[in-house]
Amino acid sequence: MFQINENYLQLGESYLFSTIAAKVKKFTASHPDADIIRLGIGDVTLPISPAVTESLHRAVDEMAVKETFRGYGPEQGYTFLREKIAETDFQKRGIGITPGEIFVSDGSKSDTGNIGDILGDDNVVAITDPVYPVYLDTTIMRIGKSNKTILLPCSEENGFLPEIPVQRADVVYLCYPNNPTGTVMTRAELKRWVDWALENESLILFDAAYEAFIRDNEIPRSIYEIENAERCAIEFRSYSKNAGFTGVRCSYTVVPKALKTKTPDGEEVSLNQLWNRRQSTKFNGTAYIIQRAAEAVYSPQGQKEVDEMVSYYMQNASIIRKGLIEKGFTVFGGENAPYVWMKCPEGGNSWDFFDRLLQECHIVGTPGIGFGAEGEGYFRLTAFNSIEKTEEAIQRIKEWTL
Ligand code: MLT
Repeated sequence: MFQINENYLQLGESYLFSTIAAKVKKFTASHPDADIIRLGIGDVTLPISPAVTESLHRAVDEMAVKETFRGYGPEQGYTFLREKIAETDFQKRGIGITPGEIFVSDGSKSDTGNIGDILGDDNVVAITDPVYPVYLDTTIMRIGKSNKTILLPCSEENGFLPEIPVQRADVVYLCYPNNPTGTVMTRAELKRWVDWALENESLILFDAAYEAFIRDNEIPRSIYEIENAERCAIEFRSYSKNAGFTGVRCSYTVVPKALKTKTPDGEEVSLNQLWNRRQSTKFNGTAYIIQRAAEAVYSPQGQKEVDEMVSYYMQNASIIRKGLIEKGFTVFGGENAPYVWMKCPEGGNSWDFFDRLLQECHIVGTPGIGFGAEGEGYFRLTAFNSIEKTEEAIQRIKEWTL
């Protein structure tokens, strides 16, 4: 009989946001008139901006004409986009990332999950707790649950910032601004991780999907703002949240050419070359029209529109923070991130709080336990709904008898 990858049997029954969607569907079926407000999954609600839409239309028209039609594109992404990314997101900020170090993809979820393809199974992988579930689930898919995965607790006591592990870790996933806690790492804190990785010859997988939401100019937006990080870190960036691409699908991953490791035989290996080999074998590139849409994000008009979208969502984050604080909740995040992390009343069970919030206020959030054991007693709300719905949700919470 054929065999399966049994590591899959060690995973929770379903992916966190699928479980939540199923619960909400069940509730809606039995309460068809309930006006549900969704502050659960971090899915955007504003439409893609005019500059992006125009670019998409133009690209579709090009594909419909023999002279400008395009078939397979470069697996790494078109030069027109990789050049814009390198120039705008890095070089203009004084970071020397070049187009050849950028790999355009269809989402950071895919890339943060797939990156394990180029890493050895014997690595000790450190993952924060709570965490965006993709890092942990894809690690389990690859190597199973084992003592090679270590969890770095992030709690109120350490400001939701992981301590550097005392035991050896070969790979660490960091996400800042953080999903789910909405907290950020200062330059000094990030530098400690980079210094640790360089000293220990470890790899940092840095998810910067929420960098656009940073309001404080002192907070690093890229790990490459830290000296020598290009020798120890891969960075993931996404257009999902800043440009409203959750349904459009485009992201990129930076694998610097300076990032090298050695085989047990002492042969030097470039991770840029390995990822290139992986992508060109398993991925045929992001659609041309989608890359043209992403390119439009970098036009002056596109940049202005994206800034407006981000400000809109950050206004929601502030409405949520303020309202919850007024109601007496203990609240974290939401100042440089689109997520607000709140303490459940009396440190209660986060699925119970989810159920009550849904049943009594008709609001969907995300229970902290869904992000890991350390998330128990906490709850996440997102800033991605409309201002009207966000205000309404906060009003309902304020009037709620707990
Ligand atoms: C979240 O809600 O945590 C994110 O939207 C999930 C994702 O980006 O895949």
